[in-house]
Amino acid sequence: MSKKIAIIGTGYVGLTSGVCLASLGHKVICVDKDKDKIDKLKKGEIPIYEPGLAELLQKYSANLTFTDDLPDAVKQSEVIFLAVGTPSQDDGSVDLSFFQQAVAEIAQNMDGYRILVDKSTVPPGTANWVKKEVKKYYQGEFAVVSNPEFLREGSAIEDFLKPDRVVIGVDDEKAKDVMLDIYSAIDAPKFATTAQSAELIKYAANSFLAMKISFINEIANICEKTGSDVVEVAKGIGLDSRIGSQFLQAGVGFGGSCFSKDVAGLIHTALSNNYQPRILGAVMTVNEAQQEIFVDKIKAVLARNQGKVVGVWGLAFKPNTDDTRYSPAIAVIKKLLKEGYQVKAYDPVAQDNAKTELGEAIDYCKSAQEAAIDVDVLALLTDWPEFLEVDWAELKKIMRSPSIIDGRNFLPTGDLAKNGFHYQSIGHKFF
Ligand SMILES: NC(=O)c1ccc[n+]([C@@H]2O[C@H](COP(=O)([O-])OP(=O)(O)OC[C@H]3O[C@@H](n4cnc5c(N)ncnc54)[C@H](O)[C@@H]3O)[C@@H](O)[C@H]2O)c1
Repeated sequence: MSKKIAIIGTGYVGLTSGVCLASLGHKVICVDKDKDKIDKLKKGEIPIYEPGLAELLQKYSANLTFTDDLPDAVKQSEVIFLAVGTPSQDDGSVDLSFFQQAVAEIAQNMDGYRILVDKSTVPPGTANWVKKEVKKYYQGEFAVVSNPEFLREGSAIEDFLKPDRVVIGVDDEKAKDVMLDIYSAIDAPKFATTAQSAELIKYAANSFLAMKISFINEIANICEKTGSDVVEVAKGIGLDSRIGSQFLQAGVGFGGSCFSKDVAGLIHTALSNNYQPRILGAVMTVNEAQQEIFVDKIKAVLARNQGKVVGVWGLAFKPNTDDTRYSPAIAVIKKLLKEGYQVKAYDPVAQDNAKTELGEAIDYCKSAQEAAIDVDVLALLTDWPEFLEVDWAELKKIMRSPSIIDGRNFLPTGDLAKNGFHYQSIGHKFF
């Protein structure tokens, strides 16, 4: 049955969730305190790059409203999803200030039974905190649910509508039934558990995926020492159904707004509960070292060809998104700039976001080719498919030195070999 839903926070998760829930027939009010974002959305413009989202929004616009009026949205809705940001603080703990502010504002405007659904990633115990906080302002009946989100930027719609599972952390039968109803059109296992377990499931899932990436990167580094090829090794172990082939692509390391902050958040949760985690710290250490190893490869080429200029392909933390939060590309560029190298870069959609982190310290180019003109080495940091379409013979002519370092083991080694490039990757052989 169609439900009246408010989504607080209209970022990558909130907007995708809102549009997808509208596509399932629910009436959705998307709320954000960022008025510019809301004004854009009212005009049908999407403030982020996410394939297919603009089309879906347009198709189901009759079920969608956008507003910065949180009190009114709370009054009109029976279910309120929280999808505000929960960034990392310097000590790794989770900054819950946006979340806490939103909860207080919701509670102050409740005038009857409401279900508060936490979609933001928050530490175990947060749903209990929400219950106590709401009671400060509202004495009637209400329920709190933890419903973590597992979507990936770049394939967010598909992930939301065809997930591997829907996790519902709740101890209230009425609220559980409403949640099952909301997701009834989604054909996936619905796993009901306690809120504390649901909250930890999200951290454990992201930490496990990050661990797989760090694991294969460590194997890649060993491959380089032993003459093995990590692509072959990953294939060989991935065929084992206990291991699986996903998240075994060696490279320059993981990035994005979630993995680093969630691993750090889980470490902090463990420490504040008097448990010293051992694997989680290593996941982060390997990831940070992977960026250093990549920079060292660039520096070694520049030392050999006495160059100073690095071309960078890709700024987003992965393809099909404009998100540069914790992007390895940004981290690598910052290290290069610190050492006095010059950088020119190209990304099909993430340049504006990169500018907020790098300012005018690098040259932003209009094409992959432009980012390669007169460079002493070219570094691939995001595996955008358009980088496969390059005319390699032409590219070789415009580079000062035909050296490529591939941080994603992505480029066509056969074409590169044929055209006489000096090519290096991450634990992968150049045939
Ligand atoms: N980005 C992902 O791929 C992803 C995937 C799964 C889970 N998550 C989790 O989902 C949450 C949201 O992540 P995101 O990437 O969508 O964040 P985001 O930064 O893209 O969006 C958050 C939005 O919340 C708004 N906001 C903050 N406080 C508000 C308030 N009091 N009232 C109204 N709006 C407010 C901000 O203006 C912003 O637009 C985080 O906890 C994140 O860890 C993210």
